Amino acid sequence: MSTDNSHSKFANLSFDDFRKLASDPTLSRHEKVGFPDSYRQGKEGEIFRDMCGKISNLSLPGKNVMEIGPGCSELPVMLAKRCETNASRLIFVDSEEMLELLPLAGHITRYAGTFPSALGEDIEEWAGKIDVIIAYSVVQYVFTEGNLWGFVDRCLSLLSDGGEIMFGDVPNITMRKRFFSSAAGKVSHRQYTGRDEKPEVLFNQLEPGQMDDSVVLAILARVRAQGFHAWVVPQLATLPMANRREDILIVKP
Ligand SMILES: C[S@@+](CC[C@H](N)C(=O)[O-])C[C@H]1O[C@@H](n2cnc3c(N)ncnc32)[C@H](O)[C@@H]1O
Repeated sequence: MSTDNSHSKFANLSFDDFRKLASDPTLSRHEKVGFPDSYRQGKEGEIFRDMCGKISNLSLPGKNVMEIGPGCSELPVMLAKRCETNASRLIFVDSEEMLELLPLAGHITRYAGTFPSALGEDIEEWAGKIDVIIAYSVVQYVFTEGNLWGFVDRCLSLLSDGGEIMFGDVPNITMRKRFFSSAAGKVSHRQYTGRDEKPEVLFNQLEPGQMDDSVVLAILARVRAQGFHAWVVPQLATLPMANRREDILIVKP
């Protein structure tokens, strides 16, 4: 079980903070992408299976797949293997420091920097040609330090007909409150802390930088209004943050 210290070390990270984590040789692969080992160690196979079960184009050959914010854990390595097996092209977009830790291969193209600006003029070349976009545990950082609507709209502009987007592992603070207000949430809190106390759940307060139901549902509303299908779906219950994080799936009909 992680300590409170290990959690606060990874709170409120910026894109530049991630660059520093990536360059720190004392950190594990999970810590470099902002997770205590206890949250990711031994779980990434399951996360990847969950991802593949939700994105049908990952099972088809000859697709253009883009991962925004792949980081440097095992997830992008698994994705690279799957794309190679499927003769699909894979495009990674992240900092130079993260990209350096990922495998090089003929089917992989890399853009260093933040999406969408990292793609420069190529973004027009890719418009309408990408069959899968994955941004797993990424949009919360765009929400706090970037332009979420610009990010979402750019992703939509890249999708081919039938193309799919997964904004995965989205922390939703309203979902967290619903869980910790429930009987199951109270039991989980007692087990986690080892103390007979209730979790603190506060309403009607400012929560700068926190994604909540209003943001998650606004993403669906905006995407749908622009002609795309979009849903919020649960994570596998066995994933470490399934009680407070969820996935957004988007499909261009
Ligand atoms: C929490 S880590 C997640 C890494 C990986 N997707 C995973 O789940 O293991 C967030 C990653 O997103 C990257 N990132 C944040 N904002 C980004 C942006 N606008 N464009 C590209 N990458 C971004 C960070 O550099 C970092 O590698």
